[in-house]
Amino acid sequence: MRVVETFEATRALSEGRTGLVPTMGFLHEGHLSLIEAARDANETVVVSVFVNPLQFGEPDDLASYPRDLDRDVSLAAEAGADVVFAPDESYMYPVRPKTSVSVAGVANDMEGAHRPGHFDGVATVVAKLLSGVQPNAAYFGRKDAQQLAVIATLVDDLSLPVHIVGLPIVRESDGLALSSRNVRLSPAERARALVLSRSLFEAAGSFEAGESKAGALTGAVRAAIAASGDIEPEYVELARARDAAIVDEAVEGEYFLAVAARVGATRLIDNITLDADHGSADRGIHLTGPSMLYEEG
Ligand code: PAJ
Repeated sequence: MRVVETFEATRALSEGRTGLVPTMGFLHEGHLSLIEAARDANETVVVSVFVNPLQFGEPDDLASYPRDLDRDVSLAAEAGADVVFAPDESYMYPVRPKTSVSVAGVANDMEGAHRPGHFDGVATVVAKLLSGVQPNAAYFGRKDAQQLAVIATLVDDLSLPVHIVGLPIVRESDGLALSSRNVRLSPAERARALVLSRSLFEAAGSFEAGESKAGALTGAVRAAIAASGDIEPEYVELARARDAAIVDEAVEGEYFLAVAARVGATRLIDNITLDADHGSADRGIHLTGPSMLYEEG
């Protein structure tokens, strides 16, 4: 396993079919599931670790984003990565880029509405990573379902020669979607945060029982969250997986039912994928024990 800081060095180490897993580091089992999927399908696996300032709105969120490159390097190696590309900010952005990649429509609602500029930052850095690393395939989690739609649209629209792979959400054993930000939750906040996944699972149950209307599904999520007390969701929406268009009903193909909420000072997002062709819901993969996020040292 090699750790490099330039695109040239990354490409020089890439032999045969190359899979890229873009991350902002502080890796957990969700990231590792992407690295393992890349390992299964490629000769070279590149993991990028870069906390991208362009996609953060609040300076505090950027400053307090957890970072530990040594930890990331050993976890990536164990999961089968060949190369960790961990550039400095001054390498990625020697000057503030004058080019910004903006995906209209797909990026407007939900996260786009609540985090202005966020998806431009994501799309710009992902376009840069794809053109610099030149992978055959790139792997993303459905945890960020709208981000996945933004990136798939960017790749289609610009005919970038890369295959985009979306993979299921990995959850802690009690259902909480894994996020590097979970380490910022106090034990009491963590317990309160569980209502997000629990409410989505309840809605998944009613979808599987035949309910396909957005109003009923989002209403069930809102009611469960309201019943639990003091969490105020920023949004609860049913959207088409392909282009993140908000819909009134899940009729054909894949959708996601998404929620965002602040728990204390920490903003969390979660969703479940609903398959309207089969009437089934994907509740993700549950860990059987505590996440590596909480391991000491
Ligand atoms: P980051 O939040 O580090 O996530 C990196 C990848 O891991 C994303 O594709 C994300 O969807 C996936 N991921 C995170 N938590 C997951 C979970 N619980 N289960 C499955 N996959 C999970 O997303 C970003 O970084 C950035 O926006 C990035 C794409 C790297 C651009 O800067």
